[in-house]
Amino acid sequence: MAAAGSLPDLQRAIQGCLACPLGPGRLKFVFGEGDPKARLMFVGEGPGRDEDQAGRPFVGKAGELLDKMIVAIGLRREDTYIANIVKCRPPDNRTPTSDEARACLGYLRRQIELIQPAVIVTLGATPLRELLGISEGITRVRGQWKRLQMGGREIPVMPTFHPAYVLRQYTQDVRRSVWEDLKAAKAWVDKGAED
Ligand code: URA
Repeated sequence: MAAAGSLPDLQRAIQGCLACPLGPGRLKFVFGEGDPKARLMFVGEGPGRDEDQAGRPFVGKAGELLDKMIVAIGLRREDTYIANIVKCRPPDNRTPTSDEARACLGYLRRQIELIQPAVIVTLGATPLRELLGISEGITRVRGQWKRLQMGGREIPVMPTFHPAYVLRQYTQDVRRSVWEDLKAAKAWVDKGAED
């Protein structure tokens, strides 16, 4: 797996994965998708029912909102890369356990190494906890830059709310928070492009 030199190689190597109990229950493996050289990468929690059927991340209601959020900061979905902490759907859309996340984390880390994004935006509490080891509530931590150590490099990480949460809590406050977080992430992406 670590030897995979490209995203397609990695996908081929891991798409039959049965390393955790989620594997046997999936319809489709949801590897992730987008620009392999994306400067902005989103990391969500795990596939839901729509994603399990499509084999693609964020294609349901939360995905529609994520697409709109991406357009609002002047990008297209295909300019970014979108992946999840776990690649297979947890039953009843429950949060993946830490064991499940751990079994899958090497795959995501290899994706990040291959893509080398300038900025990662984590969506909700699960990617923050499993990728960065931060268990504080998302409401407290969102909007504050974090760092991911990756192969001798540090990648800035902007935690924000999960779009499914935004749909449930469709208040001006929550929407404004996400908008500010994404604007900050985009500004960093643009700044890096100038250097
Ligand atoms: N929620 C997620 O966290 N990821 C998806 O791919 C879809 C919904």
